[in-house]
Amino acid sequence: MSDATSQVHFFYNRHPISCDIILAKLRASRGHLDGLRPEDLFPHDQDHYGGLKATDELARGAQIERGSRVADFCAGLGGTVRYLAHKYGADVTGIELTPARVLGAQELTRRVGLHDAARIVEGNVMDVPLPDASVDAVISQEAFCHVPDVKRAVAEAFRILRADGQLAFTDWIANQPLSAPDAQLMWDGMAIQPLRSIPDYCSLVESAGFTVISATDLTDEWGPILKERLAMYQRLREEARQAGTPMGHDAFHESYIRFVELIQERKMGGVRIVAAK
Ligand SMILES: C[S@@+](CC[C@H](N)C(=O)[O-])C[C@H]1O[C@@H](n2cnc3c(N)ncnc32)[C@H](O)[C@@H]1O
Repeated sequence: MSDATSQVHFFYNRHPISCDIILAKLRASRGHLDGLRPEDLFPHDQDHYGGLKATDELARGAQIERGSRVADFCAGLGGTVRYLAHKYGADVTGIELTPARVLGAQELTRRVGLHDAARIVEGNVMDVPLPDASVDAVISQEAFCHVPDVKRAVAEAFRILRADGQLAFTDWIANQPLSAPDAQLMWDGMAIQPLRSIPDYCSLVESAGFTVISATDLTDEWGPILKERLAMYQRLREEARQAGTPMGHDAFHESYIRFVELIQERKMGGVRIVAAK
């Protein structure tokens, strides 16, 4: 297993949001887990910034509609896969590297009865287990930052898209290279690979054969969202400490605090890129 894969597994196996935690919250609020609907999960299972609205923006960019065949790169617990299947009537396949996330995603999907239209398969987005020209849209949310060779992942998106298909994704960026201690902290705490600026990202996407349609700087939008998310992680950590359940590793909390500072300083940020094959 590569260093990148084991670091991603290490991080996501200890992540403060998991299938078990989501189900425990729902059991606590509803008293049981019978008859769960997709929308019961949505307040808990969207592991990206801006929730469902952010996914709607990507769906618009990627022109997702009823019957669209969609691949979600780095699907995590499958929140986006289920949402696109449920709200848009799309047929969605999520590709996810971490086996525990795949199992968690499959369990959540089965519990809400979406397993026909929403699948999560174990795989690496640098070598996608889908045939050439087999999807209409590829999306991804805040996950290429973990991928050691993003150009290869984008080339895989190009390969599996039909002619004129759309790629729409959000990701972390760095307006200038991070200092060595910050880069190390991001790697140790959150398995973050070296990042790039928005112009460099656009060049990377175009070098894979795409035409970039739009590149939207999300840094200002993310600022308040990330502060709130940091507060949520701190609350979850305290709840976990009190309940004696896994609290997430210390480097994660340290790196998240620094990440939020770097966003406020605009040394780091976010982008949404929409591109056509
Ligand atoms: C921030 S989560 C995103 C989850 C999901 N997109 C969402 O919005 O709910 C990033 C996910 O990317 C996965 N991942 C990281 N590197 C990957 C790779 N090379 N191939 C596939 N999945 C990967 C991680 O295991 C993790 O579950």
